[in-house]
Amino acid sequence: MEKHLNLLNGNKRWALAKVQDDPQFFTRLQAIQRPEYLWIGCSDSRVPANEVTNTAPGDIFVHRNIANMVVHTDMNLLSVLDYAVTVLKVKHVIVCGHYGCGGVKAAMESQSFGFVDSWLRNIKDVYVKHFKELEAIADIESRSDRLVELNVIEQARNLAKTKIVQRAWKNNELKVHAWVYGLNNGIIKDLDVVYNEVSDIDSIYRYNNLQPTDQI
Ligand code: CO
Repeated sequence: MEKHLNLLNGNKRWALAKVQDDPQFFTRLQAIQRPEYLWIGCSDSRVPANEVTNTAPGDIFVHRNIANMVVHTDMNLLSVLDYAVTVLKVKHVIVCGHYGCGGVKAAMESQSFGFVDSWLRNIKDVYVKHFKELEAIADIESRSDRLVELNVIEQARNLAKTKIVQRAWKNNELKVHAWVYGLNNGIIKDLDVVYNEVSDIDSIYRYNNLQPTDQI
């Protein structure tokens, strides 16, 4: 049998099991989407948002890209972010990186990996920003783990710099979190970094004249 058919067969078994467990499961979800969280994670196949948080379809709005980046010109991310905070009114945005991230490791190398290089450039910028701290860590594995943490914090800060988040802060409570998932033990570490007000970012990034009803 062709391999991809495993996915379709798996899907049938999953849907059947869901209905057996809860006959109204799909009917309920079909009617409305009301997630409380936006998850921005890595595309890595080993870090599926719902599974690692033991949540169900309907619980988390998800955006994933290589190395969980928040690039301020990324229309895809900005569209997801705006829809999540403005329409769905999520209360928490979580940037979740993971130790052993291939994207972060590649960004630490001085060689080309092809088309992805331009994307990884954003991580190199984070490296340079924290050059002293990172270069002081001799063990490469530990250094990349620290860069994973610093990168997640940087991306959470990038979220706070957006007009979308700053406008949301004028309307609702919104917290931006920085987490890191451990591939080795399945545990998520909360880096205890929370951005929830405009004073959390450098003044140069603040839009002091932004109104709660402004279009972005
Ligand atoms: Co990764």
